Amino acid sequence: MTGELSPIDKAKFVAAKRAVDFVEDGMRVGLGTGSTAAWMVRCLGEQVRDGGMKIKGVPTSTRTADLARQVGIEVISLDEAKWLDVTIDGADEYDMNLNLIKGGGGALLQEKIVATASDMMVVIADISKQVETLGAFPLPVEVIPFGWQTTKALIEETLVSLDVLGNNVTLRLNGDVPFVTDEGNYILDLHLNRIGNARQFSLVINQIPGVVENGLFIDICDAVVIGYGDGRVEVRDINAGTVEEDRIDFVESDNLFTDLTD
Ligand code: A5P
Repeated sequence: MTGELSPIDKAKFVAAKRAVDFVEDGMRVGLGTGSTAAWMVRCLGEQVRDGGMKIKGVPTSTRTADLARQVGIEVISLDEAKWLDVTIDGADEYDMNLNLIKGGGGALLQEKIVATASDMMVVIADISKQVETLGAFPLPVEVIPFGWQTTKALIEETLVSLDVLGNNVTLRLNGDVPFVTDEGNYILDLHLNRIGNARQFSLVINQIPGVVENGLFIDICDAVVIGYGDGRVEVRDINAGTVEEDRIDFVESDNLFTDLTD
């Protein structure tokens, strides 16, 4: 129930709840991954079940697909949808230009494909995700398992010539075995502290053989909905150049506030 939510969870919830306003009846919607996106999926599910809204959802992970089905959203593949009206997803960091670091949950590859195939990407986040310069959050890079140590060494070598403040690269683990993504790949986390030129960094890293994709989302996000623990939300639209403030009231609902596993 809402009384048990921490301020950070309330912030995530109100951001998610407000972002659902971007979704209209009949839309094809990209469904992000992570704890904030899970709130959004639940809020959308409520609209479908209780509000009669008809949408088709394209999930960015098996976790999100499971949750979407559980809350009553029709799930289709990206190939079935072909193109999406809007994608709503969380982020690990966003800067003032709405460039992002994503992939803390290991779903960056599907997330990037789905967001790029959308008319609009809306990020939902609490204010702690806002940064002046990207890079304090370790940058996830998805690599194929074959020769991953060589790929790691090539990345480390490449970091020397890039505008970053750290160069430690670690293999993401699940217990004591490598974490494996939905696409069967590994994740290397790049501890860079600060990425001076994220656009250039993204292009250079993606040129290294073995690298599938990195977690920098440059010029993909259109709007961010920032939630606060007291119910305030701020909607920044980078294209329109607008900032709107709003407030969401917590309404207790068993459907929304129980059994959240993500
Ligand atoms: C999943 O791979 C990530 O990109 C998430 O969107 C990101 O880590 C944000 O997750 P939270 O909403 O759980 O902070």
